[in-house]
Amino acid sequence: MGVNVRMVKIGLRSGHRVDHERKEVGVVDPARVTSVIGGAEGTGGAEYASRNPARLDDRVATVLLAGPEALRDATASAARAQRSWREVPAPVRGRVVASLGRLVEANKEALSALVTREIGKPYAEALGEVQEIIDTCDFFLGEGRRMYGQTVPSEMPDKQLFTFRVPVGVATIITAGNFPVAVPSWYLVPALLCGNTVVWKPAEYAAASARAFAELFWRAGVPREALQLVYADGDATYEGLRMSLEAGTVQKVGFTGSSAVGARVGELCGRYLQAPCLELGGKNPMVVAPDADLDLAVEGALFSGWGTAGQRCTSLGSLIVHRDVHDEFVRRLDAVLRAAPVGDPAQDVLYGPLLDQKFADGFERTLKWIADHHRVYGSSAVGRITADAPRDGFVGDPSTGLYYHPVLLDGVRRDDPVFTEETFGPIVGLTTYGTLDEAIELGNLSGYGLSAAIYTNDPATAFGFRQDIGAGMVSVNNSTSGAEAHLPFGGNGRSGNGSRQSGIWVLDQFTRWQSLNWDFSGRLQKAQMDVATVEPDRDYRLPAAFTGAAG
Ligand code: UN1
Repeated sequence: MGVNVRMVKIGLRSGHRVDHERKEVGVVDPARVTSVIGGAEGTGGAEYASRNPARLDDRVATVLLAGPEALRDATASAARAQRSWREVPAPVRGRVVASLGRLVEANKEALSALVTREIGKPYAEALGEVQEIIDTCDFFLGEGRRMYGQTVPSEMPDKQLFTFRVPVGVATIITAGNFPVAVPSWYLVPALLCGNTVVWKPAEYAAASARAFAELFWRAGVPREALQLVYADGDATYEGLRMSLEAGTVQKVGFTGSSAVGARVGELCGRYLQAPCLELGGKNPMVVAPDADLDLAVEGALFSGWGTAGQRCTSLGSLIVHRDVHDEFVRRLDAVLRAAPVGDPAQDVLYGPLLDQKFADGFERTLKWIADHHRVYGSSAVGRITADAPRDGFVGDPSTGLYYHPVLLDGVRRDDPVFTEETFGPIVGLTTYGTLDEAIELGNLSGYGLSAAIYTNDPATAFGFRQDIGAGMVSVNNSTSGAEAHLPFGGNGRSGNGSRQSGIWVLDQFTRWQSLNWDFSGRLQKAQMDVATVEPDRDYRLPAAFTGAAG
């Protein structure tokens, strides 16, 4: 009798078989989404409208936002479920991850279309985002059969040492909505694979995408108690997290979002002696060296600066261009930016609307940083794209959504806020430099350290940049965004606390090392004290006859 993946649900175990009754939540009304705690749909809470930012009259879902008790109850329920989930053998959990990957693949177009509708990400990019989940599943399905520990020799005979990876317990994962499904998968997939249970608090403005993604986990065989879903606003989340930490029902917090909120999360976790996984903002520099292939650099700047409307944590923040190529670079970038298709994200555009009204409000504040000493390129106007401030070649009707003109800002100085602060919108500042040291200093100045790029064909320039730039992720002749799903993802300084996601590196977030020493000598052998020593002849010197030295 083997373990039947389809039967896996936390609950009763008999022999090798893990039995459970599969609870159905019933038909979900996709237009009305609620938390799913302990396997049951929530009923109450303040209503939030998740709107299509390309067509604001299209309400994608009404979200019921729960209070802090909901998060506390969800973590308590997840804590009760953790033992049964961790007792499912890791290779079997790996099969669940494999099934998830296949289900996501089978639902790729539908999930991508929902992402496009809910947050306005161009459909081609949404397909890429969903592909990133599939890539993540591909990587971790095999990890269920590895999760290697070590056997280590002992300093004494008849004794053996081992290391084991053990799950941390309950992970509470709080995610932003700019990557409403891919970035959550970087947490949820390895956390579950490692035997943790998870409470996921997605962004409310991406609630329907989150609900759809959670459904795929459940359908793949992840028990509803092992993955709980909570919708709550920031204050309720903070308080619910505090209550859970106090109750001891959370052992790892994952947070993707702004550096300001990340600092609060880190501070709260610190009080409970926990080190969260923080993936925060970026002010990602791109250096264009004098020997760069300028067309390649322009293409990379366009994609990472204005693609996704600049709303990736890896989006290009500042262009740092060598003064010898400045004029030509600006001329070419201005031309492609003016010609770039902006508009309806269901069509073939560089970027669509901003994610949500609060991001549009934030971008309006950023635009106030444009000063007299700046020169604006890339567009015929600054601000919202309207009938009075139209954009040539706009795809669709700008009046229906949160559409903004692209801005390329030349003449940016090192103490301008647009140079030091994350902008999270379709604006990029440009500064010139003379020496590589100066470029690196400018690239490190903001104190963020997520991603950095350099365009050069000179190995010494590329490696010199890699060596001294403070970013966790460095690109040569590639843009700042678009990291692959199996390299360590994360930043330094204001971009995080040094934690890394993705690939084998994230295993250190969701497991802890446990060591085992097993003495089979039948006597107490005391470490450091009962250890045999081999004494060398310390006074020995090679005789001249050996070395041929003149005597
Ligand atoms: C984010 O914006 O939070 O490297 C993540 C990239 C994507 C992920 C971005 N793979 O741009």
